[in-house]
Amino acid sequence: MIDRRKFIERVAAVSALSLVPNIIKSQSSILPLDLNTDNLPLFISTWNHGIEANEAAMQVLVNGGSIVDAVEQGVWIPEADPNNRSVGIGGYPDREGHVTLDASIMGPDGNAGSVCFLENIMHPISVARLVMDSTPHVMLSGDGALQFALENGFKKENLLTPATEKAWKKELIETGYDPKPNWENEPNKYHDTIGLLGVDSAGDIAGACTTSGMGFKMRGRVGDSPIIGAGLFVDNEIGAATATGMGELVMKTVGSFLVVELMRNGRTPQQAVEEAVLRIVNKVPDHKKYQIGFIAVNKQGDTGAYCLQPGFNYALYQNNQNILIDSNSYYK
Ligand code: GLY
Repeated sequence: MIDRRKFIERVAAVSALSLVPNIIKSQSSILPLDLNTDNLPLFISTWNHGIEANEAAMQVLVNGGSIVDAVEQGVWIPEADPNNRSVGIGGYPDREGHVTLDASIMGPDGNAGSVCFLENIMHPISVARLVMDSTPHVMLSGDGALQFALENGFKKENLLTPATEKAWKKELIETGYDPKPNWENEPNKYHDTIGLLGVDSAGDIAGACTTSGMGFKMRGRVGDSPIIGAGLFVDNEIGAATATGMGELVMKTVGSFLVVELMRNGRTPQQAVEEAVLRIVNKVPDHKKYQIGFIAVNKQGDTGAYCLQPGFNYALYQNNQNILIDSNSYYK
Protein backbone atom coordinates (compact mmCIF):
# COMPACT_ATOMS: atom_id res chain seq x y z
CA MET A 1 0.00 0.00 0.00
CA ILE A 2 1.01 3.59 -0.56
CA ASP A 3 2.79 5.25 2.35
CA ARG A 4 1.42 8.82 2.54
CA ARG A 5 4.33 10.19 4.55
CA LYS A 6 6.84 9.01 1.95
CA PHE A 7 4.70 10.48 -0.80
CA ILE A 8 4.67 13.88 0.85
CA GLU A 9 8.45 13.78 1.39
CA ARG A 10 9.05 12.88 -2.25
CA VAL A 11 6.68 15.55 -3.54
CA ALA A 12 8.47 18.15 -1.44
CA ALA A 13 11.78 17.03 -2.92
CA VAL A 14 10.41 17.10 -6.43
CA SER A 15 9.01 20.62 -6.05
CA ALA A 16 12.55 21.82 -5.39
CA LEU A 17 13.98 20.03 -8.43
CA SER A 18 14.38 23.03 -10.69
CA LEU A 19 16.75 24.62 -8.17
CA VAL A 20 18.75 21.60 -7.12
CA PRO A 21 21.15 21.13 -10.05
CA ASN A 22 22.52 24.68 -9.84
CA ILE A 23 22.82 24.55 -6.07
CA ILE A 24 24.77 21.31 -6.29
CA LYS A 25 27.11 22.63 -8.97
CA SER A 26 27.89 25.78 -7.01
CA GLN A 27 28.69 23.77 -3.90
CA SER A 28 30.97 21.26 -5.58
CA SER A 29 34.15 22.95 -4.35
CA ILE A 30 33.26 22.39 -0.71
CA LEU A 31 33.48 18.62 -0.84
CA PRO A 32 35.60 17.43 2.08
CA LEU A 33 38.89 15.82 1.14
CA ASP A 34 38.94 13.10 3.77
CA LEU A 35 36.07 10.92 2.63
CA ASN A 36 37.92 7.88 1.43
CA THR A 37 38.16 4.76 3.49
CA ASP A 38 39.56 1.89 1.46
CA ASN A 39 38.20 3.18 -1.85
CA LEU A 40 34.75 4.06 -0.48
CA PRO A 41 32.52 5.89 -1.00
CA LEU A 42 32.61 5.94 -4.77
CA PHE A 43 30.43 6.84 -7.74
CA ILE A 44 30.90 5.57 -11.29
CA SER A 45 28.78 6.70 -14.21
CA THR A 46 28.56 6.53 -17.97
CA TRP A 47 29.90 9.16 -20.38
CA ASN A 48 31.24 12.62 -19.68
CA HIS A 49 27.96 13.88 -18.21
CA GLY A 50 28.87 11.46 -15.42
CA ILE A 51 31.40 13.92 -14.01
CA GLU A 52 28.71 16.36 -12.89
CA ALA A 53 26.35 13.55 -11.88
CA ASN A 54 29.06 11.97 -9.71
CA GLU A 55 29.81 15.32 -8.13
CA ALA A 56 26.16 15.93 -7.30
CA ALA A 57 25.78 12.40 -5.94
CA MET A 58 28.83 12.77 -3.68
CA GLN A 59 27.47 16.08 -2.41
CA VAL A 60 24.19 14.42 -1.46
CA LEU A 61 26.10 11.74 0.48
CA VAL A 62 28.29 14.34 2.20
CA ASN A 63 25.16 16.22 3.21
CA GLY A 64 23.77 13.13 4.91
CA GLY A 65 21.61 11.69 2.13
CA SER A 66 21.34 7.96 1.58
CA ILE A 67 23.08 6.14 -1.25
CA VAL A 68 19.69 5.92 -3.03
CA ASP A 69 19.17 9.69 -2.64
CA ALA A 70 22.67 10.19 -4.02
CA VAL A 71 22.22 8.19 -7.24
CA GLU A 72 18.75 9.63 -7.82
CA GLN A 73 19.85 13.23 -7.35
CA GLY A 74 23.10 12.68 -9.25
CA VAL A 75 21.21 11.88 -12.43
CA TRP A 76 18.95 14.90 -11.99
CA ILE A 77 21.83 16.90 -13.50
CA PRO A 78 21.76 15.41 -17.02
CA GLU A 79 17.97 15.01 -16.84
CA ALA A 80 17.61 18.77 -16.36
CA ASP A 81 20.23 19.75 -18.95
CA PRO A 82 18.50 20.96 -22.16
CA ASN A 83 21.77 20.50 -24.06
CA ASN A 84 21.98 16.80 -23.26
CA ARG A 85 20.58 14.97 -26.28
CA SER A 86 19.98 11.59 -24.67
CA VAL A 87 18.55 12.20 -21.22
CA GLY A 88 15.50 14.15 -19.99
CA ILE A 89 14.66 17.56 -21.44
CA GLY A 90 16.52 18.18 -24.70
CA GLY A 91 16.73 14.46 -25.44
CA TYR A 92 16.07 13.49 -29.04
CA PRO A 93 12.41 12.63 -29.67
CA ASP A 94 11.00 9.54 -31.34
CA ARG A 95 10.11 9.53 -35.04
CA GLU A 96 6.75 11.17 -34.27
CA GLY A 97 8.44 14.07 -32.44
CA HIS A 98 7.64 12.92 -28.87
CA VAL A 99 10.33 12.77 -26.19
CA THR A 100 9.70 9.49 -24.34
CA LEU A 101 11.71 8.63 -21.26
CA ASP A 102 12.85 5.42 -19.56
CA ALA A 103 14.40 5.22 -16.08
CA SER A 104 15.13 2.76 -13.31
CA ILE A 105 16.53 2.75 -9.81
CA MET A 106 17.60 0.07 -7.33
CA GLY A 107 18.62 0.28 -3.71
CA PRO A 108 20.66 -1.82 -1.30
CA ASP A 109 17.51 -3.49 0.05
CA GLY A 110 16.94 -5.10 -3.36
CA ASN A 111 13.95 -2.93 -4.07
CA ALA A 112 13.51 -1.59 -7.59
CA GLY A 113 11.39 0.94 -9.46
CA SER A 114 11.13 1.96 -13.07
CA VAL A 115 9.14 3.88 -15.62
CA CYS A 116 9.09 3.54 -19.37
CA PHE A 117 7.55 5.39 -22.30
CA LEU A 118 6.92 8.34 -19.97
CA GLU A 119 6.32 11.73 -21.56
CA ASN A 120 6.42 15.33 -20.32
CA ILE A 121 8.13 14.72 -16.98
CA MET A 122 11.55 16.28 -16.46
CA HIS A 123 12.80 13.78 -13.86
CA PRO A 124 11.66 10.24 -14.70
CA ILE A 125 14.18 8.88 -12.20
CA SER A 126 12.17 10.42 -9.37
CA VAL A 127 8.98 8.86 -10.67
CA ALA A 128 10.83 5.52 -10.75
CA ARG A 129 11.94 6.16 -7.15
CA LEU A 130 8.36 6.84 -6.13
CA VAL A 131 7.22 3.61 -7.81
CA MET A 132 9.91 1.80 -5.83
CA ASP A 133 9.23 3.46 -2.49
CA SER A 134 5.49 3.82 -2.54
CA THR A 135 3.85 1.12 -4.62
CA PRO A 136 3.84 -2.68 -4.61
CA HIS A 137 5.00 -2.59 -8.26
CA VAL A 138 8.30 -2.33 -10.10
CA MET A 139 7.41 -0.72 -13.42
CA LEU A 140 4.80 1.76 -14.65
CA SER A 141 4.52 2.66 -18.33
CA GLY A 142 3.22 5.36 -20.63
CA ASP A 143 -0.03 7.06 -19.70
CA GLY A 144 -0.24 5.14 -16.42
CA ALA A 145 3.21 6.33 -15.38
CA LEU A 146 2.28 9.89 -16.34
CA GLN A 147 -0.98 9.71 -14.39
CA PHE A 148 0.91 8.41 -11.35
CA ALA A 149 3.47 11.22 -11.64
CA LEU A 150 0.84 13.97 -11.97
CA GLU A 151 -1.19 12.59 -9.07
CA ASN A 152 1.93 12.85 -6.94
CA GLY A 153 2.94 16.41 -7.63
CA PHE A 154 5.16 16.16 -10.70
CA LYS A 155 4.57 18.89 -13.27
CA LYS A 156 3.92 18.38 -16.97
CA GLU A 157 6.60 20.03 -19.12
CA ASN A 158 7.42 20.23 -22.79
CA LEU A 159 10.67 18.31 -23.19
CA LEU A 160 11.09 18.99 -26.93
CA THR A 161 13.35 22.02 -27.30
CA PRO A 162 13.69 24.19 -30.43
CA ALA A 163 17.07 22.51 -31.08
CA THR A 164 15.72 18.95 -30.86
CA GLU A 165 12.65 19.83 -32.90
CA LYS A 166 14.97 21.12 -35.62
CA ALA A 167 17.14 17.98 -35.41
CA TRP A 168 14.04 15.78 -35.63
CA LYS A 169 12.78 17.54 -38.77
CA LYS A 170 16.23 17.25 -40.35
CA GLU A 171 16.37 13.54 -39.49
CA LEU A 172 12.98 12.98 -41.10
CA ILE A 173 14.15 14.58 -44.32
CA GLU A 174 17.43 12.66 -44.31
CA THR A 175 16.16 9.20 -43.35
CA GLY A 176 12.52 9.32 -44.46
CA TYR A 177 11.45 7.41 -41.34
CA ASP A 178 13.90 4.58 -41.93
CA PRO A 179 12.98 2.06 -39.23
CA LYS A 180 16.39 0.36 -39.45
CA PRO A 181 19.03 3.04 -39.14
CA ASN A 182 22.47 1.86 -40.19
CA TRP A 183 25.04 3.18 -37.76
CA GLU A 184 27.98 1.18 -39.12
CA ASN A 185 30.16 4.28 -39.23
CA GLU A 186 28.65 6.07 -36.23
CA PRO A 187 28.01 3.45 -33.53
CA ASN A 188 28.02 6.05 -30.73
CA LYS A 189 25.31 8.15 -32.40
CA TYR A 190 22.13 8.81 -30.42
CA HIS A 191 23.02 6.75 -27.33
CA ASP A 192 24.38 8.45 -24.24
CA THR A 193 22.23 7.05 -21.43
CA ILE A 194 23.41 7.89 -17.96
CA GLY A 195 23.85 4.99 -15.58
CA LEU A 196 25.19 5.94 -12.15
CA LEU A 197 26.31 3.40 -9.55
CA GLY A 198 27.29 4.32 -6.00
CA VAL A 199 28.75 2.56 -2.99
CA ASP A 200 28.72 4.35 0.36
CA SER A 201 31.35 4.01 3.05
CA ALA A 202 29.41 1.15 4.66
CA GLY A 203 29.53 -0.78 1.37
CA ASP A 204 25.85 -0.27 0.57
CA ILE A 205 25.13 -0.07 -3.15
CA ALA A 206 22.54 1.72 -5.29
CA GLY A 207 22.13 2.48 -8.97
CA ALA A 208 20.11 4.76 -11.25
CA CYS A 209 19.73 4.74 -15.01
CA THR A 210 17.82 7.31 -17.09
CA THR A 211 17.50 8.06 -20.79
CA SER A 212 15.42 9.45 -23.60
CA GLY A 213 16.49 6.30 -25.43
CA MET A 214 17.62 5.83 -28.97
CA GLY A 215 17.23 9.05 -30.92
CA PHE A 216 14.38 9.00 -33.48
CA LYS A 217 13.27 5.54 -32.38
CA MET A 218 9.95 4.00 -33.44
CA ARG A 219 7.04 5.27 -31.36
CA GLY A 220 6.50 2.97 -28.42
CA ARG A 221 10.04 1.61 -28.41
CA VAL A 222 11.43 0.99 -24.94
CA GLY A 223 15.10 0.23 -24.40
CA ASP A 224 17.12 -1.56 -21.76
CA SER A 225 17.37 1.28 -19.23
CA PRO A 226 14.07 0.72 -17.39
CA ILE A 227 14.34 -3.08 -17.53
CA ILE A 228 15.67 -4.34 -14.21
CA GLY A 229 18.50 -6.76 -14.99
CA ALA A 230 19.11 -5.34 -18.47
CA GLY A 231 20.00 -1.64 -18.12
CA LEU A 232 20.59 -1.78 -14.37
CA PHE A 233 21.07 -4.34 -11.65
CA VAL A 234 22.13 -4.05 -8.02
CA ASP A 235 22.75 -6.87 -5.57
CA ASN A 236 23.95 -5.44 -2.30
CA GLU A 237 25.82 -8.64 -1.42
CA ILE A 238 27.85 -8.54 -4.63
CA GLY A 239 27.87 -5.33 -6.66
CA ALA A 240 26.08 -3.48 -9.43
CA ALA A 241 26.17 -2.89 -13.16
CA THR A 242 24.57 -0.58 -15.68
CA ALA A 243 24.61 -0.27 -19.45
CA THR A 244 24.55 2.30 -22.21
CA GLY A 245 24.26 2.04 -25.97
CA MET A 246 21.92 0.08 -28.21
CA GLY A 247 19.53 -1.29 -25.60
CA GLU A 248 18.25 -4.13 -27.74
CA LEU A 249 21.62 -5.89 -27.47
CA VAL A 250 21.61 -5.55 -23.68
CA MET A 251 18.01 -6.77 -23.40
CA LYS A 252 18.73 -9.86 -25.49
CA THR A 253 21.54 -10.85 -23.10
CA VAL A 254 20.12 -9.43 -19.82
CA GLY A 255 23.42 -7.62 -19.59
CA SER A 256 23.54 -5.96 -16.16
CA PHE A 257 22.21 -9.04 -14.36
CA LEU A 258 24.78 -11.11 -16.23
CA VAL A 259 27.60 -8.83 -15.04
CA VAL A 260 26.50 -9.08 -11.41
CA GLU A 261 26.10 -12.87 -11.64
CA LEU A 262 29.57 -13.17 -13.13
CA MET A 263 30.92 -11.17 -10.18
CA ARG A 264 28.99 -13.47 -7.83
CA ASN A 265 30.84 -16.37 -9.46
CA GLY A 266 34.21 -14.84 -8.76
CA ARG A 267 34.95 -12.48 -11.66
CA THR A 268 36.32 -9.04 -10.95
CA PRO A 269 34.13 -6.18 -12.21
CA GLN A 270 36.50 -5.75 -15.17
CA GLN A 271 36.42 -9.45 -16.08
CA ALA A 272 32.63 -9.45 -15.74
CA VAL A 273 31.98 -6.51 -18.06
CA GLU A 274 34.37 -7.93 -20.65
CA GLU A 275 32.54 -11.27 -20.57
CA ALA A 276 29.17 -9.54 -20.93
CA VAL A 277 30.39 -7.71 -24.03
CA LEU A 278 31.77 -10.99 -25.38
CA ARG A 279 28.35 -12.56 -24.80
CA ILE A 280 26.83 -9.92 -27.09
CA VAL A 281 29.54 -10.51 -29.69
CA ASN A 282 28.81 -14.25 -29.64
CA LYS A 283 25.03 -14.14 -29.41
CA VAL A 284 23.84 -11.09 -31.37
CA PRO A 285 24.69 -11.47 -35.07
CA ASP A 286 24.35 -7.81 -36.11
CA HIS A 287 26.09 -6.36 -33.04
CA LYS A 288 29.01 -4.91 -34.98
CA LYS A 289 27.30 -1.73 -36.14
CA TYR A 290 26.18 -0.76 -32.65
CA GLN A 291 27.78 0.48 -29.46
CA ILE A 292 27.33 -1.03 -26.02
CA GLY A 293 29.11 -0.03 -22.84
CA PHE A 294 28.96 -1.53 -19.36
CA ILE A 295 30.25 -0.21 -16.06
CA ALA A 296 30.35 -2.24 -12.86
CA VAL A 297 31.38 -2.03 -9.25
CA ASN A 298 31.69 -4.55 -6.46
CA LYS A 299 31.11 -4.15 -2.75
CA GLN A 300 34.82 -3.61 -2.11
CA GLY A 301 34.95 -0.64 -4.47
CA ASP A 302 36.68 -2.33 -7.42
CA THR A 303 35.33 -1.08 -10.73
CA GLY A 304 35.21 -2.18 -14.35
CA ALA A 305 34.21 -0.74 -17.72
CA TYR A 306 34.18 -2.16 -21.23
CA CYS A 307 32.46 -1.51 -24.52
CA LEU A 308 32.03 -2.89 -28.03
CA GLN A 309 33.37 0.02 -30.05
CA PRO A 310 35.92 2.74 -29.28
CA GLY A 311 34.44 5.99 -28.03
CA PHE A 312 32.81 5.13 -24.71
CA ASN A 313 34.03 6.89 -21.59
CA TYR A 314 32.96 6.94 -17.97
CA ALA A 315 33.40 9.06 -14.87
CA LEU A 316 34.84 7.66 -11.65
CA TYR A 317 34.72 9.57 -8.37
CA GLN A 318 36.89 7.68 -5.90
CA ASN A 319 39.60 8.62 -3.41
CA ASN A 320 38.69 12.30 -3.73
CA GLN A 321 39.20 12.39 -7.49
CA ASN A 322 36.43 12.69 -10.05
CA ILE A 323 37.91 11.78 -13.42
CA LEU A 324 36.84 10.85 -16.94
CA ILE A 325 38.35 7.62 -18.25
CA ASP A 326 38.33 6.17 -21.76
CA SER A 327 37.01 2.62 -21.70
CA ASN A 328 38.80 -0.19 -23.49
CA SER A 329 36.76 -1.71 -26.29
CA TYR A 330 36.34 -5.12 -27.93
CA TYR A 331 36.76 -3.70 -31.43
CA LYS A 332 39.71 -1.33 -31.90
N1 GLY B 1 20.47 2.26 -23.69
C1 GLY B 1 19.40 3.12 -23.89
C2 GLY B 1 18.49 2.69 -24.93
O1 GLY B 1 18.81 1.87 -25.76
O2 GLY B 1 17.39 3.20 -24.96
